[in-house]
Amino acid sequence: MSGSDAVAEAVAGALPPLEAFWMPYTNNRAFKARGDLASRMIARAEGVYYTTASGARVIDAMATLWCVNAGHCRPRIVEAIRAQAGELDFASNFSLGNPLAFRAADAVARIAPPGMGHVFFTNSGSEAVDTALKIALGYHRLRGEASRQRFVGRERGYHGVNLAGVSVGGVPANRKAFGNLIAVDHLPHTQDLARSRHSRGRPAAGADCADALERIVALHDASNIAAVIVEPVAGAGGVLVPPRGYLERLRELCTRHGILLVFDEVITGFGRLGAPFASQFLDIRPDLITFAKGVTNAAVPMGGVLVADHVYETFMGGSGPVVELFHGYTYSGHPLASAAALATLATYAEEDLFGNAARLAPAFEDGIHSFAGMPHVVDTRNLGLIGAVELAPRDGAPGARALEVHNRAWERGVFVRPIGDAVAFCPPLSINRDQLDTVFAAVREALAGVA
Ligand SMILES: Cc1ncc(COP(=O)(O)O)c(C=O)c1O
Repeated sequence: MSGSDAVAEAVAGALPPLEAFWMPYTNNRAFKARGDLASRMIARAEGVYYTTASGARVIDAMATLWCVNAGHCRPRIVEAIRAQAGELDFASNFSLGNPLAFRAADAVARIAPPGMGHVFFTNSGSEAVDTALKIALGYHRLRGEASRQRFVGRERGYHGVNLAGVSVGGVPANRKAFGNLIAVDHLPHTQDLARSRHSRGRPAAGADCADALERIVALHDASNIAAVIVEPVAGAGGVLVPPRGYLERLRELCTRHGILLVFDEVITGFGRLGAPFASQFLDIRPDLITFAKGVTNAAVPMGGVLVADHVYETFMGGSGPVVELFHGYTYSGHPLASAAALATLATYAEEDLFGNAARLAPAFEDGIHSFAGMPHVVDTRNLGLIGAVELAPRDGAPGARALEVHNRAWERGVFVRPIGDAVAFCPPLSINRDQLDTVFAAVREALAGVA
């Protein structure tokens, strides 16, 4: 089938052939066998709404995969991509350069925490994580500490799907099929329902979870540890909000032991908490920040690593080989992605979308906590515009309740994501108060019908 035939078929609303596409993170057989497939195919999107192939409108209360922060098909971004495709479709940044990559890096660095003035571009969050961990290894080696090779991740952390990311990640389902992975240690996750339930914002108890790093240091010795990587707010592991003082303590311990601290801000970057990065919202300075998703509003794949000046200078000041870092992707700083990033950052600024997230956060918090006291609800939690409602697992069928809530909410025109027994919310920062109310009302109604 030619490209134009495929387009004509899609426009006519016919379903495409299903067999060839091995869908990511999906039960392929169940999906492809669905009787209501057209209601699960997204035909188009605008603002906070999807339109399905069956013609239904659904509020995307997850910014799809925590990424469409400005809402869908924003004109300025669409136009920038279109124009760039006709101007310079591709040029490599391997010893050549395209101006947009430099501009995009500069634009990201300008909104980054002070002292983090350098950007290495990748194409995804997973690549950003691998890049950050390699930078950490190279940094220590340049400083004469080549034995610092171990990484520390955290239970229930999600750092993408590449080998290093899965290794430091702590979601069991993502790890168990893949054998040994890279040897890393994991900090305990921070959820403790016995001490903190229904916390509005950061839980009061739990800073002591960071002390587990001391035990890992005691076990391996700091001279063997390169980096600790954590998400400031764990997303795909079930939306876990950091307890007060926890990340501060991790920062303190990393500094004391000469370990680099990496914040994986693939979800929290670009306004999710009401500031450009969680690092600013929380006022904690990591050494490296990974980002992706919101940098281009997901319109073109892009990720990257924000690098603290002291780390960057270590590479630039070295007497090593001419190429300071033997690392890079064919598409690092791709012109289309760079154009999308510039237009996205301009959209965030023009519409004050980070400010909108901050202003909406109290109403969002109320919406999330309106579930407390409903049947099956064991926890409600939130920070900025990310939150979750956790349900008690059904006997013998963990995850079934949240999946049912997701399905019933979808039928009511709202997309929320089941993660285990939690229902996650992560709306575009451009959502308005009425749309938020619609989201919470639909999900409450969905939950009310779940046994
Ligand atoms: C915190 C975090 N890191 C890394 C990733 C991986 O990003 P990608 O799917 O773009 O590779 C994700 C994706 O959800 C994420 O949430």
